[in-house]
Amino acid sequence: MTEHRTLRVALLGAGSVGSQVARLLREHGDDLSERSGARLELAGILVRDIDAPRDVELPRELLTTDAEQLILGADIVIELMGGIEPARSYVLQAIRGGADVVTGNKALLATHGAEIFEAADQVGASVSYEAAVAAAIPIIRPLRDSLAGDRIERIFGIVNGSTNFILDKMDREGLDAAEAQRIATELGYLEADPTLDLEGYDAAQKAAILASLAFHTRVSLDDVHREGIESVTADMIEDARRAGSVIKLLAICERIAADDDGDDAVSVRVYPALISREHPLAAVHGGNNAVFVEAEAAGPLMFYGAGAGGAQTASAVLGDVVSAARRHLAGGVGVGESARQNRSVAPIARITTRYQITLEVADQPGVLAAVAGVLGEQGVSIATALQTVEREDSAVARIVIGTHRASEKALSATVARLAANPAVGRVVSVLRMEGE
Ligand code: NDP
Ligand code: HSE
Repeated sequence: MTEHRTLRVALLGAGSVGSQVARLLREHGDDLSERSGARLELAGILVRDIDAPRDVELPRELLTTDAEQLILGADIVIELMGGIEPARSYVLQAIRGGADVVTGNKALLATHGAEIFEAADQVGASVSYEAAVAAAIPIIRPLRDSLAGDRIERIFGIVNGSTNFILDKMDREGLDAAEAQRIATELGYLEADPTLDLEGYDAAQKAAILASLAFHTRVSLDDVHREGIESVTADMIEDARRAGSVIKLLAICERIAADDDGDDAVSVRVYPALISREHPLAAVHGGNNAVFVEAEAAGPLMFYGAGAGGAQTASAVLGDVVSAARRHLAGGVGVGESARQNRSVAPIARITTRYQITLEVADQPGVLAAVAGVLGEQGVSIATALQTVEREDSAVARIVIGTHRASEKALSATVARLAANPAVGRVVSVLRMEGE
């Protein structure tokens, strides 16, 4: 058998993902040695509470609460604690101490990525984070390596498993939002702080990471336009179903045309949107994720699979560990972050897309014309219009308008004017329509 050099691996965190990483490192140690060319010795596992019950049995002598000591002398540090601090300080300490870092922490990278990548650049260390976006699905390496010779135009997809699970339950089983959320919580799909998922923060963190890589530009969480699924009701899902569509929480990263000053920009946004049931994303069920990448030469590519889960995410982490071990042995500098293009991130007002506006109006002559007039004044062109009356004796009608592509600015002005128009009782919902 080949004699391998030993690399010391420090694991920070033994929760859903960390415990699976520890298990696989120990169970597949020989295979991983063959693949990486190094014997990967699990030097210790940082936890908050050594006596906490764990799903995976871990040798007690490996558990520690002494981060400083564990990181000191490690060749590879795997950070799977989550959150910003102390994860940020430990990662920086690891890099400055000469270790390569593997992390699944999207919150950390989307807020402190620049600081971490700069620290790594200074010492030539690598920071790998395949698990940070779409868990088991290989998407970071394809963007960074496989597509490095192409020009990425657009990334479009479902990157949050728990909200997809909730929307899917509402769509397929007719549940209301509270019930679907209760089941998602019971199954452990939501983050400990569920607002991270429900309000779109988790998807926005992932969108920031994807856009940074794809457009060689630093995009942080604050740059991302974010809307979550809190406002999506069972009625909206039912309306979408009747119209042959489904509502999905989408992350969209795209290049957009130069502004008046001639500056190219990118748009990075997360919001619930309607897509046709014919679109492949409509078939992404449960907690799965799917990401479309459109590149100039490669054309459209689709990446699909498990977007969460301990073992699934551990697979992505271990892929990064093998790469980090190879780099550590080979020496040289790690693949740095490429932020050379530094494009501006455009405000949401600069995007154009199609919209669906649902209104409650008085069922009277001239109302449809008044509504059409408001859209016309703002230059928003109507593609479809459907009027329904729930009951024969009702004085209230519901109008569902689908627009052609319009600017977000024109759409906002239209909605404000519709809301103020005496013919309109209520603007029930406004949804963007994506995935042409
Ligand atoms: P968990 O909350 O399940 O586990 C966190 C672990 O870190 C626990 O073992 C905890 O210790 C330890 N820890 C947390 N804070 C400290 C601290 N201050 N000092 C020492 N130890 C600490 O998280 P997950 O495993 O779910 O997630 C880990 C990372 O992976 C996160 O960044 C997450 O966003 C990311 N990720 C998770 C996915 C998933 O499906 N779960 C998917 C993709 C990415 P103790 O056990 O003692 O409490
Ligand atoms: N909370 C995340 C999700 C976990 O629901 O997708 C995986 O990153």
